[in-house]
Amino acid sequence: MRFKTVEICPNVFWVGVEDWNRKVFDALIPLPYGTSYNSYLIVGKNKTALIDTVNPGFEDVLMNKISQIIPLERLDYVVMNHAEPDHASGIPTIMKAANNAKVVATQLGVNMAGVFFDVPADRSMIVKEGDTLELGDKTLKFIEAPWLHWPETMFTFGVEDSVLFPCDFFGAHIASDRLYADEVSAPLLPEAKRYYSEIMMPFAASAREALAKVKPLNPKIIAPSHGPVFRNPRPIIEAYEKWTTGPLEKKVVVVYVSMWGSTQALERIITETIASEGIEAVSYNLTVADISHVLRELVDSSAVVIGTPTVLGGAHPLAIYATELVASFGVRGKVAAVFGSFGWGGGAARRIKARLEQGGFQVLDVLEIRGPPKPEHVEKAVALGKIVAEKVRQTT
Ligand code: FEO
Repeated sequence: MRFKTVEICPNVFWVGVEDWNRKVFDALIPLPYGTSYNSYLIVGKNKTALIDTVNPGFEDVLMNKISQIIPLERLDYVVMNHAEPDHASGIPTIMKAANNAKVVATQLGVNMAGVFFDVPADRSMIVKEGDTLELGDKTLKFIEAPWLHWPETMFTFGVEDSVLFPCDFFGAHIASDRLYADEVSAPLLPEAKRYYSEIMMPFAASAREALAKVKPLNPKIIAPSHGPVFRNPRPIIEAYEKWTTGPLEKKVVVVYVSMWGSTQALERIITETIASEGIEAVSYNLTVADISHVLRELVDSSAVVIGTPTVLGGAHPLAIYATELVASFGVRGKVAAVFGSFGWGGGAARRIKARLEQGGFQVLDVLEIRGPPKPEHVEKAVALGKIVAEKVRQTT
């Protein structure tokens, strides 16, 4: 859809771009389906507005698409729902071409537009919760949604068309020849969940507040700034409700790294014990795992078990990396256990435990052994698995 626009409702046009070639987001998350930077042009009877722009490098494509619909000079407003560069860095180029346009954002957003994109105060318009902007036969209503996932974020609601533009919220990293959620071939909800886990899970409380604002609007269309447009929003709203407030699954995520097989031997015993207790156990070897799959599992898991050998007096770097994500990404199931092995001096498990507790986790058990597991160690690993399974059974 390089130069194609799509009219998602009367005089509301998708003018975004697909980025098939982007492989990583936030220097962290692999993008097997690429991503899109969705921008929307609203042509009212008297005024026009652009909702968000595009990632650096795609400004020409965006301007080409706008020009297919209106002359750029006719653009009156550039609504900046969010200041992150994948949506806002096109603003200076657009503002130069549309030299009467004003940026519309929250107070914090206007501040950030000045700092990051040199938007002057006299070309900015501050809006707050419930404010409206009249375009003639179309009204835009603004909904503050701070910390989703930056402090300045807001949503924009097209009142007459009942279309919600929530920027990152309800997004997914999917580039597709098809714009609508019901047409894409990529696994949309699993990808939306993967996206949620990285971007929104650390801000679940804010997500819950935003959902409480979205539901009364009962939008007919949700048009996020990454991935497909939902012309039946119910599945994605219900999914977000589940991920933010729904019951946790009877599921334990086991993440581990092993250098010479001793920690892996413990992992097998622990994972199989948890499964044999009737609790789902999903295991990721951090040497080869996609960390975004681990984060996705953690959205609705009840417990996490981390295994690491002791390396240079501390935990293996991959285990430190995973523990940092577990401890800081707003995981709801704050129950954990730690295991590992060492050659001549331990201590890794203690450090992992301390970081998890700092992140609010209850660490049920710690098992650290020297060398490969002996029969007495097998018993202790089975006991650890049973303790975790029993806790999950009691709490879910
Ligand atoms: Fe897609 Fe937070 O930017």
